[in-house]
Amino acid sequence: METLSKPILVSGSSVGPLEVHYTADAAQTGWNEKCFDYIKRFERTVCEALGVRYAVATPSCTTALQLSLLTIGVKAGDEVILPDSTWVATANAVSYTGATPVFVDVCEDDWTMDPDAVERAITTKTKAIIPVHLYGHPCKMDRINAIAKARGLYVIEDAAQSMGSLYHGRYAGSLGDMACFSFHGSKIVVMGEGGVFTTNDEKLYDRAKFLADVAKHPTKRFFNDEIGYKFRLSNLQAAFGTAQMERLEEIVAKKRQVFQWYQEELDGIEGLTLNPELPGIRNNYWMVTPVLDERWGHDAEWLLAELGKCAISGRPFFYRITDFPMYQKFRREPTPVAQQLHERGLNLPCGAELTREEIRYVCAHLRSILTGEQCPHPITGWLARREHFFKEKHAFSDIEFIAPDFHTMDCEISLKETGELTPELLDSVHEKLGFRRLFIRTRDTDNVRLNRLGFVEHQRIPMVQEAGSAEPLELFRQPYADIHTYEIIFVRVF
Ligand SMILES: Cc1ncc(COP(=O)(O)O)c(C=O)c1O
Repeated sequence: METLSKPILVSGSSVGPLEVHYTADAAQTGWNEKCFDYIKRFERTVCEALGVRYAVATPSCTTALQLSLLTIGVKAGDEVILPDSTWVATANAVSYTGATPVFVDVCEDDWTMDPDAVERAITTKTKAIIPVHLYGHPCKMDRINAIAKARGLYVIEDAAQSMGSLYHGRYAGSLGDMACFSFHGSKIVVMGEGGVFTTNDEKLYDRAKFLADVAKHPTKRFFNDEIGYKFRLSNLQAAFGTAQMERLEEIVAKKRQVFQWYQEELDGIEGLTLNPELPGIRNNYWMVTPVLDERWGHDAEWLLAELGKCAISGRPFFYRITDFPMYQKFRREPTPVAQQLHERGLNLPCGAELTREEIRYVCAHLRSILTGEQCPHPITGWLARREHFFKEKHAFSDIEFIAPDFHTMDCEISLKETGELTPELLDSVHEKLGFRRLFIRTRDTDNVRLNRLGFVEHQRIPMVQEAGSAEPLELFRQPYADIHTYEIIFVRVF
């Protein structure tokens, strides 16, 4: 690839004429007596595709998770076991019910919930277990189901990331008592936002359907005798989602192809491991996720920043949920595997429609960053133009281009000033760079861990402060009183 006309984003959906056709049809005809047609069709399609008996369409996977907990009456005083490595929504859904989340570590071999840790975490208060099929790899469901069965616990699969993955020939999401999927724009199948709850149990289905539709009285119209929830999906979104579900196998095949290309392009780089796929599993490879081993002497955050300079967008491996301030107090056992994965793992661009050429570009830069080999694909085009803009047009020659936010096209640049962060300095930067809006973040250059720490404590410490207001200095100084050098990071909002 000679030039890169736009950044390579970390995720990307596959949308074709079928989605357009169904959505246009829903827009034209899906009203009045037909206003639920695509919702019903979507739910049927999910059931047929996954081999489950019942489905309830929801506005998101978060709501589906909350719904599944409400369906079994989880409430304050109960405990729910979940992995420490996941997206925050899994834990939030538990919190919404008032129950206590109990976090366990994940296994090294598949990055999913460790069944031994689950066994250790069970108490008399435990009501349910939420295995998360992380990055598309199904959990060790035989063991988790057996543990749950022996103790009379419910298993709710968080299958947000695992649409189309297989566990010994059965689809993820058909393996526990209930399951929840996401159709968020970054997922394998998308609607922008959307979700679905599935189960094979008629009683759980009836209860979930009832609660999700404001607990309508079964016989008395417009009468309610219980507080229900408005967890319904719109017919328009369902039309789009129906098309995506009809194309599920095609989209999974594309994702697996993307992963295979990565395997081929990265072959031979030692100390870099890609997503696992244990025997009996078909991983949908939702996110291509290399994990660096310690020989590189760098963590994933560094690699993400380096890739960002080449217009390659990535994401960190999920944080441990117990590293977030609101969940710290729930840490019971250490979770070192989850911690290592966060520090050493990252997601590479893996949209379903990526071309081999784009993957070659990503891998060539990755290889060059790690090994120092000459990269045959120079950074040109969009990124080079932008770098030139900052270096030539403005007075700061020592500006380092960090990483643009490739979705919003905001651009983050770092000025390696250290020392006093004075109002005069802020004013001069504002003037010279002429930003429409300028945000300033501080980072402790003596202590590389502060960035993470600052993030963790972001509710207490405002990391981002708009310039021009009188307060920023006080706000920065107060919490960082013991820190004497700053790196100032400016974010230009285009
Ligand atoms: C593991 C996991 N659970 C739950 C969710 C929540 O999904 P949604 O955004 O559809 O609410 C996500 C979304 O990324 C997820 O990755």
